[in-house]
Amino acid sequence: MINANLLQHVVNASCDGIVVAEQEGDDTILLYVNPAFERLTGYSAADILYKDCRFLQNDDREQPALDRLREAIRTRQPCREVLRNYRKDGSVFWNELSITPVYNDADQRLYFIGVQKDVSQAVGAQARILQLEAELAQARQEIDQLRAGA
Ligand SMILES: Cc1cc2nc3c(=O)[nH]c(=O)nc-3n(C[C@H](O)[C@H](O)[C@H](O)COP(=O)(O)O)c2cc1C
Repeated sequence: MINANLLQHVVNASCDGIVVAEQEGDDTILLYVNPAFERLTGYSAADILYKDCRFLQNDDREQPALDRLREAIRTRQPCREVLRNYRKDGSVFWNELSITPVYNDADQRLYFIGVQKDVSQAVGAQARILQLEAELAQARQEIDQLRAGA
């Protein structure tokens, strides 16, 4: 078994956000956030500990991924979704969030581990591909029409 200090060191060194949360009423409140989460979001641990992570959504709550997240948390199922989040300075990023419930025998409590990855570049590239495909289809249609008319 890896020792606790090394585990802490590894989690601190991660490039992706890693958080631990616990259910409290309708909220899952943050008990721990690693330095990568602070860098990604611009919030310091002191700003946001014991809060529910939904503050990262600002007012952008009409996202189908949120319904799936809520249901997975309610039914204690692991899930992975991509959603729009906002840094402390208001700038937007696409967050690939995975959440896993973890039951701890020692204190008989349920925790959730969350891993946050900034996938903004990949989402941007995907949108660009869709746009280029649409432009290509349009261009092909115009060429076909020109050929038909020739
Ligand atoms: C461990 C964990 C990490 C989470 N991380 C994020 C996050 O990075 N960004 C986010 O928008 N929501 C995150 N959430 C989801 C929100 O806390 C909340 O569950 C979600 O907004 C759905 O519930 P609501 O509709 O009551 O807000 C996380 C939840 C858990 C349990």
